[in-house]
Amino acid sequence: MRENPIGIFDSGVGGLTVANAIHQLLPGESLVYFGDTAHLPYGDKSKETIAMYSGKIAEFLLEQSCKVIVIACNTASANGYDEVVKAASGKALVVDVINPVVEYTARQHKYKRIGVIGTKGTINSGTYVSKIIATNPHVVVSSLATPMLVPMIEEGFIFDDISNAIIRTYLSRPEISQIDSLILGCTHYPIIKNQISKYYNFSVDVIDSSRIVANHLRKILSDSNLLSQAVSGQNRFLVSDYTDYFQAISKLFFEEEIKLEKVSLWN
Ligand code: DGL
Repeated sequence: MRENPIGIFDSGVGGLTVANAIHQLLPGESLVYFGDTAHLPYGDKSKETIAMYSGKIAEFLLEQSCKVIVIACNTASANGYDEVVKAASGKALVVDVINPVVEYTARQHKYKRIGVIGTKGTINSGTYVSKIIATNPHVVVSSLATPMLVPMIEEGFIFDDISNAIIRTYLSRPEISQIDSLILGCTHYPIIKNQISKYYNFSVDVIDSSRIVANHLRKILSDSNLLSQAVSGQNRFLVSDYTDYFQAISKLFFEEEIKLEKVSLWN
């Protein structure tokens, strides 16, 4: 079981930021990444639909003998976590991208006013806010859906006038004013972490969940005696719809050259 792969899924290729953080921290692990490019974006879809997709993808990753399923997508973590846990029950561990970050913020006693940004599906679910308050009732949590950031990043608008204007327009909104920390609640946002920090003149802690999730994963694999002993793993990157565009933008999110492979999951 130790040498079985880690399954990671997302609505598309943005979740490669999480896969990348896992690969950097645990190079001996083999990864099976699944990007549901046929159905993206998840950010605008209903809870029922996202939950159904998430459950089905979890079953697919279990068929690949994954020892753990990492829900790299924030929208799927917010809306499909229970389905994945149900599918994996007794067969694999489950790690999402929200719980490890909530636990991390609870350990940072200096945080009093936490902001969260993400897709509409993530923010409207209220998952981050309710989980943070349940862990630490003394903090004030505010959140804002920032849906234009995903297409902005995918189109390569980074550290330029257009992206600065979009970021400023969102982050100056009263809904998330006066924060001391900001959770980047979306797979894509680590790409603009520095730009966001700069917007705040580095006075707000900008929290990149991908590294926190990778650290959490290492801990639970270690606690369960499931860390691979290999020196380097073998990685596969699967998508439900292949285009040259997905292949090209995957470079934004994963530091090494990768080859996307199409698999038919939805027929
Ligand atoms: N992967 C999604 C997330 O982290 C963003 C892209 C989408 O809406 O599908 O929420």
